[in-house]
Amino acid sequence: MNEFIITEKFTKCYGKVSAVQDLDLTVYAGEIFGFLGPNGAGKTTTIRVMTTLTKPTSGRVQIKGFDVVKDADKVKKLIGVVQQHLSLDRDLTVRENMEFHARLHHIGSSERKRRINELLTYVELNDFADRMVDTLSGGMKKRAAIVCSLIHEPEVLFLDEPTVGLDAQARRRLWDLVRRLNADGTTIFLTTHYIEEAEALCGRVGIMHHGQLIALDTPLELRKKLGAVTVETLVDNKETRYQYFADRAAATRYVQSLPPEAKTIIIRDSNLEDVFVEQTGQKVGDN
Ligand SMILES: Nc1ncnc2c1ncn2[C@@H]1O[C@H](COP(=O)(O)OP(=O)(O)O)[C@@H](O)[C@H]1O
Ligand SMILES: [Mg+2]
Repeated sequence: MNEFIITEKFTKCYGKVSAVQDLDLTVYAGEIFGFLGPNGAGKTTTIRVMTTLTKPTSGRVQIKGFDVVKDADKVKKLIGVVQQHLSLDRDLTVRENMEFHARLHHIGSSERKRRINELLTYVELNDFADRMVDTLSGGMKKRAAIVCSLIHEPEVLFLDEPTVGLDAQARRRLWDLVRRLNADGTTIFLTTHYIEEAEALCGRVGIMHHGQLIALDTPLELRKKLGAVTVETLVDNKETRYQYFADRAAATRYVQSLPPEAKTIIIRDSNLEDVFVEQTGQKVGDN
């Protein structure tokens, strides 16, 4: 596997706050890599540094061997980024927004036309190409932002919280688009605070907490390391205790060994929320 994004002791401080602390991370070409963590964990800061929007305080960040500070121009050609808050001009049409992005990348007029039409078809926005962005649904706006960021054919696409604010259907549709882009050769680095998004979409997941990487692996391995099966027991009728077991048989044996007055709530598959709670004592949704 080719190393595509490499960070070495990457740290970003804002005053006394370490938004990201000593991050060592490798993302491989062809991955859908997910950065999972609650608000304030350092996800956006990481994307901003990787995409040259801000500089690291210390350490090194490289994209395909190019340093994000020293070789920013080369990095910019390799990357596309969709920020959490829409960077589209709402008073322009989808096509006009795409034109604008294409011009920023100095793409000539006939090539521009070809790529715009191809991308509009790719994300099924043909019928909406000449509508003002402001009049589109949330899911369409997001797809429009994605095609703008793809106009220069980047090798890696960064998506910051791509499905916040989308309804369930639009979210699934966006997941499918991300999978399709990845299958067609684009490496994906996305951030999310949705457990199910990381589990559904990402080959590997890094879990962030207060600027630190606290876990890194495939969702399956992360669950296995914790114990693939979780038993939730209500203690004294007020506090839920979580215990983790290698498999259902072990979990069932444990439940059968409990005194009759113990109230077992549920036996279920462990998930990344459990991994996070176990490491931090908090839930991903907590601030
Ligand atoms: N421009 C900034 N100025 C000061 N502090 C910032 C700035 N950007 C982020 N931070 C702080 O850095 C930490 C990480 O923020 P961020 O990267 O936005 O986290 P996330 O995207 O995971 O929610 C937070 O404590 C946040 O308040
Ligand atoms: Mg963020």
